[in-house]
Amino acid sequence: MDLISIDSLSDGQIASLIERARHHFAGNRAGRSSQALDGKILFNLFYENSTRTLMSFATAAHRLGMAVVTLPVEASSVKKGETLEDTARTLNAMRPDALVIRHSENGSAAAVALIMDAHVINAGDGTNEHPTQALLDAAALVERLGSLDGVKVAICGDIKHSRVARSNAKLLPRLGAEVRLAGPPELLPDGVIPLSVDEAISGADVVMMLRVQRERLDNELGDAPGEYLGQYGLTAERLASAAPDAWVMHPGPMNRGVEIDGAIADDPKRSLIALQVEMGVAMRMACLELVAGGKD
Ligand code: CP
Repeated sequence: MDLISIDSLSDGQIASLIERARHHFAGNRAGRSSQALDGKILFNLFYENSTRTLMSFATAAHRLGMAVVTLPVEASSVKKGETLEDTARTLNAMRPDALVIRHSENGSAAAVALIMDAHVINAGDGTNEHPTQALLDAAALVERLGSLDGVKVAICGDIKHSRVARSNAKLLPRLGAEVRLAGPPELLPDGVIPLSVDEAISGADVVMMLRVQRERLDNELGDAPGEYLGQYGLTAERLASAAPDAWVMHPGPMNRGVEIDGAIADDPKRSLIALQVEMGVAMRMACLELVAGGKD
């Protein structure tokens, strides 16, 4: 199977992924290892920059006994003009068992999945989806809260360009959460009920801040990112209006002092950011098991 969108997962698969990720999370902390996918090969194909997703898929694969091969796209024949489809056909002929792809075009992972015999996992396609990020976010919340039933989650910032927001807006309500999307009016997509960041954060149990994606903006915000924090970012004052002890999340990478005050991001009593990264390895182990088979 492929993992392209949250929509393609059943409720049972989502519950199983979260349970399995938490199992691996505990196992990784205890230093346990698995050879469940021993002898299988994972290809990493990242056309866009990544630290967390690229490294956590590689780590997850190693922890399951897979061999990992990463194409350095900047040094590849992509730079000679080879199309995505021809690259996919070329890599397919090398017969990997699974391929993780990140690309700037919406629908690119689905297009590659049609070409590849290998199991394809979407690691972010344009502004469309980033399903494994949403899955790891959900698993981190279940790890902390026990359940998402009735939990109010404010997702704030550049909603229009955020594949993380799109995948979380699909996933979290299926687990019982109430999701509030908010941000600058010019960064909210059509069809979203416009909420101010203050309205969204008020009484929220979880506040997930999103990166301002300057690479995908046409200067909608002007040239004063410092003003963003005061108008739309997570400050101590705004966090004070959330539920007592509300948790703070950010998928990373952060623009400190833009969408989030750095002191909040670093506060271990409020921030789940490090937990999100750690759960990222565990969830990607669960995802690789699901698509490529083999459990121990
Ligand atoms: N959250 C996330 O996708 O981070 P990277 O871009 O570093 O992979």
